[in-house]
Amino acid sequence: MEKLVIRDALVVNDGRSFQADVLVHGDRIERVAEEGMGAAAGAKELIARGKLLLPGAIDDQVHFREPGLTHKEDIAHGSAAAAAGGITSYMEMPNTVPQALTQELLEEKYRMGAASSVVNYSFFMGVGSHNLSEVLRTDPRTVCGLKAFLGSSTGDMVINDDAALDALFREAHMLLAIHAEHDPTIKQELEKRVARYGADIPIEEHPLIRSAEACYRSSSAAVARAKAYGTRLHVLHISTARELELFEPGPLEGKRITAEACVHHLWFSDADYRSKGTLIKWNPAVKTAADREAIRAAVNEGRIDVVATDHAPHTLEEKAQAYQQCPSGGPLVQHALPAMLELAREGVFTREQVVEKMCHAPARMFSIPDRGYIREGWKADLVLVDPESPWTVTREGLYSKCGWSPFEGQRFHNRVLRTWVNGRLVHADGRVDRNVRGERLRFDR
Ligand code: DOR
Repeated sequence: MEKLVIRDALVVNDGRSFQADVLVHGDRIERVAEEGMGAAAGAKELIARGKLLLPGAIDDQVHFREPGLTHKEDIAHGSAAAAAGGITSYMEMPNTVPQALTQELLEEKYRMGAASSVVNYSFFMGVGSHNLSEVLRTDPRTVCGLKAFLGSSTGDMVINDDAALDALFREAHMLLAIHAEHDPTIKQELEKRVARYGADIPIEEHPLIRSAEACYRSSSAAVARAKAYGTRLHVLHISTARELELFEPGPLEGKRITAEACVHHLWFSDADYRSKGTLIKWNPAVKTAADREAIRAAVNEGRIDVVATDHAPHTLEEKAQAYQQCPSGGPLVQHALPAMLELAREGVFTREQVVEKMCHAPARMFSIPDRGYIREGWKADLVLVDPESPWTVTREGLYSKCGWSPFEGQRFHNRVLRTWVNGRLVHADGRVDRNVRGERLRFDR
């Protein structure tokens, strides 16, 4: 088994930043030596002075589009983009074609992950209106969670019938992640805009159509239902200030109801529609700067438990269509960590907080053993970052199959230099080793 000593890195871990030598042996971290380490026989050496060493990020919401939508993205490209961005594990969503609504279709996705994912993977079981018995067969130790769309988004996979929702919330035997937007409210707002603009609805109307009210009506009803039934509920991509009152501040431990924020809702605001147009059309929509400020504060307060991407590629041709035809979503895994570290540089978060929300908390929330921290005996999922290496996002450097990024032209100071998955170097200096294979995530629950 190979040995590697990473010397003199600034390790950001467990709420602290400290200088240490880290020894990787095979797929595990063998030593974290704050006092420094002598020569390790047979080990390769990497001098990392001035560089940050972080646990690999764990992204609990991506869409890698395989099977069925592979003209937008696939597991090979999406996982390569993740590796290049310092994300070493991901959890993928069920709105593929076919949708992952049976155990057989779900396991088929795991076979695809095993065949082509260069980082660690898990796939959510999809909840439709008529598959509860299949949903309840999901194994909580080998599958990250259940995913339900309570409002429609890409792929027409909605469950909005009260009786079906009651049954789901009552019976769910493991973490239930939801997309919360209230369709009737959205429809009403859309009809007003169609009457006013016809087919030419300006993108600036998007956050008023998929409104704060539509988010609150759906997420507040879901939280009330989860409280009534004791459901383990995880509300994805919070986009409004108002919804934050639904969640408790403080640490994750003991919470039955948790919340996620996504990088685009922490970075962009409605002022950006003018320059970015439909490239930043997401569901839920990017809303006001005041919403963004409130979500940032909620990350620091603990009302938001994890930060993820909702990486959701579409082709540029698809994104160039008129408002109603243009699909929502954009690629993010390659730039999420640099963007969050940029916000840390600006003082919005601390580096330790970024690591807590992107690496530690997802591991604890999903009870992933031996990952998410830099600890002796734990899996060597690691990221080396140069915090003083300014670079600009260009189309040529992108790994996602869709071939564009909402961050094109953006200058970041933090550059992901190297990424290791289970001790194997999967990304170094702008190149991804496509021969590496990640592992299926396991869950201690
Ligand atoms: O913007 C989005 N795109 N939000 C979602 O919920 C789905 C995603 C997609 O799959 O395109």
